[in-house]
Amino acid sequence: MIDHSRIRSAAFRAKVTSAEQAASFIRPGAMVGMSGFTGSGYPKAVPQALAAIIEAEKKTGAEWTEAERTGVERTGIEKAGENPFRIRLLTGASTGPELDGALARADGIAFRMPYNSDPVLRGLINAGAVDYLDMHLSHVAPMTWQGFFGRMDVAVIEAVAIREDGTIVPSSSVGNNKTWLDTARQVIIEVNSWQDAALEGMHDIWYGTALPPERQPIPLVRPDDRIGQTTLRVDPAKVVAVVETFAPDRNAPFAPPDDAARAIAGHLMEFFRHEVARGRLPPSLLPLQSGVGNVANAVMAGLDDGPFENLTAFTEVIQDGMLGMLESGKMRVASATAFSLSPGAAEALNARMREFRTKIILRQQEISNHPELVRRLGCIAMNGLIESDIYGNVNSTQIMGSHIQNGIGGSGDFARNSYLSVFMTPSTAKHGRISAIVPMASHVDHITQDSQILVTEQGLADLRGLSPRQRAETIIRNCAHPDYRPMLLDYFRRAREGSYGRQSPHLLDESLSWHQRFIETGSMLPA
Ligand code: COA
Repeated sequence: MIDHSRIRSAAFRAKVTSAEQAASFIRPGAMVGMSGFTGSGYPKAVPQALAAIIEAEKKTGAEWTEAERTGVERTGIEKAGENPFRIRLLTGASTGPELDGALARADGIAFRMPYNSDPVLRGLINAGAVDYLDMHLSHVAPMTWQGFFGRMDVAVIEAVAIREDGTIVPSSSVGNNKTWLDTARQVIIEVNSWQDAALEGMHDIWYGTALPPERQPIPLVRPDDRIGQTTLRVDPAKVVAVVETFAPDRNAPFAPPDDAARAIAGHLMEFFRHEVARGRLPPSLLPLQSGVGNVANAVMAGLDDGPFENLTAFTEVIQDGMLGMLESGKMRVASATAFSLSPGAAEALNARMREFRTKIILRQQEISNHPELVRRLGCIAMNGLIESDIYGNVNSTQIMGSHIQNGIGGSGDFARNSYLSVFMTPSTAKHGRISAIVPMASHVDHITQDSQILVTEQGLADLRGLSPRQRAETIIRNCAHPDYRPMLLDYFRRAREGSYGRQSPHLLDESLSWHQRFIETGSMLPA
């Protein structure tokens, strides 16, 4: 039910309007910065209203002015004669079906960055119909300030409330909201009463960021430090519409951990116990960063059952498993930029928001993912991967080297700068027809120097201190699936004999042949 008391400023109340009216401020070719990060805190009504406008314009065959036509930047494959009402869409990270899904179905997106996991939009991107810029999430704000993406026309931001002083209480994600509000010429705010009012006070927005040479060290030395204010500022003169909504975040539910995910979590717990015993990690470990997906969730469940107490997280998203640890008391505090919860966990969080507010801090993403802080705090990064080569070059994004799955997200921000960088994956994909360990990665997001620990359900490879040839032996023996291990050992043996050089031996005419075989036959295994 809509709670009208959420808009506590009379000046903003006077701007309340329908989603349709608000969406009409967004014109063809506009650059639009929307809130939203991993299925949380994204606007729900205005994007759907915009998609409806785009569909209607298409149906009526509206006459477009030349200015409107040329306003739509099309640097990708031309779709001559098709819909000219397309926008450039920027967010924090992935959103939900009401935003990316609705606008993709309407063919309303010409350019998208910095992260997407919507299947409809993924299809358009992989068909070459949408230009997609997949980039480190900590880079988005500074590159926006420098103007690389163009002029920000409209910001559409979901909020929990608008306070008496006209500042905005963000909802279940912060992402790039500060940057969009600061740089946009016009602002639309969606006040969503479904988001619990007790979110107010959970956020920490730092207004000290600046580009070099003016930038200052970030005054954060522990994950639980609060360095800013709890709300976002906005110039009231820029606010053209306020829309009231009552709509849940719609994230995909997580599958319960399968045997592979549980085995990966088990290997990692054993490794952490070993590192604590050797004195390389403290008993409460170090601030944890956990990536997205089912394996990451299983690792959180493993930690919840494990011997480590007083854990902390300095991470990007809070998933179900981390919420469970905060609830059980295993984890003391979590700093992130967003929630990424299954529908059940989101409802449970809303019911007990006041309790969680003391244990969770949500920050803007250029702070949650800042390399300076990740290195200073000595984080333990744990991320998923698509494939790793025998030397530990990791592909997190491009299936068969060219088909984007999601994007690099924050994995690079954390993997490069953490004290310990872990990558984990089941050893095979697509029911065993693909090996996650391949001779050569078909695309590289994380170089060998950034992957220290590799884990599959087969085992764990500790690559620290090893040369490339030693890494290859360890990865193949500890992590590869038995169906592929002999093939990898055979490739590596022949590469050591026939390679151009012996530092990272490869047979270039064969190194990507497994991928080609999959494309041609549907399996990396020989017939
Ligand atoms: N070849 C082809 N497809 C592969 C593959 C491979 N080597 N490895 C995984 N896949 C497919 C899976 O089959 C699945 O496909 P489906 O959706 O059709 O079922 C899909 O990729 C997702 O894989 P899944 O096994 O469900 O893994 P996940 O949910 O743990 O996600 C990543 C793994 C790599 C896709 C995910 O972690 C990711 O997007 N990472 C990059 C961003 C990131 O790390 N963010 C966190 C930083 S804070």
